Amino acid sequence: MTEFAIKDGSEPLLLYPDYVSTRLRAPEQPLVTIPERLSDITAPVYGWWTPDELDNDLTRQRPQEPHGQRIIVSGRLLDEDERPIAGALIELWQANAAGRYAHSKDDHPAPLDPNFTGAGRTVTGEDGRYAFTTIRPGAYPWRNHANAWRPAHIHFSVFGRNFKSRLVTQMYFPGDPMMAYDPIYQSIPDARARERLISRYDLSLTKPEWALGYAFDIVVRGRNATPFETPR
Ligand SMILES: [Fe+2]
Repeated sequence: MTEFAIKDGSEPLLLYPDYVSTRLRAPEQPLVTIPERLSDITAPVYGWWTPDELDNDLTRQRPQEPHGQRIIVSGRLLDEDERPIAGALIELWQANAAGRYAHSKDDHPAPLDPNFTGAGRTVTGEDGRYAFTTIRPGAYPWRNHANAWRPAHIHFSVFGRNFKSRLVTQMYFPGDPMMAYDPIYQSIPDARARERLISRYDLSLTKPEWALGYAFDIVVRGRNATPFETPR
């Protein structure tokens, strides 16, 4: 197992037997580097349309409001020197308040919410900041092992300047007891790196009479980098 460990333990192990699907997908041979071509590093990241004002507000994408606890998730996208990264596309996807994804593959017996897509996107501002308004996701079962439940989490994707520079991670909520039992979260060896995936309740982001605020900075590289599921 250790041969697949990232050296400093801040990235998920590619083979972590308790996370059952890694037994099948972890590479058994040394990785092969594929040379980059010019189009790989110059091709545009996303389409001609720019995110509109509803793309980062998952509570207003349908005729009525979705069920659940309204939250604001905001933070900054930073490089290794804590400099902001502006103009980066950030996407998120998540389960609804009952822990169900609006996806054909999710068939666990929790209600779908017709007013919740579970998907959003935005572009970071000059200060590297992004913000989403959404619903706190529920935990869901996932059949990895007996009585396996994922802690509440939100999936994040960050695009760099080209399509190949995509980073994917998950954000968790403070104090969630399910994290201790979650092989995906626990597959990151370094405890301090794991903690960088936990958002922080932030009163300054909280809107009175409206929504709870959670802060979640994303650091793309360096000593304090956010653990990513995709290799950098
Ligand atoms: Fe998920």
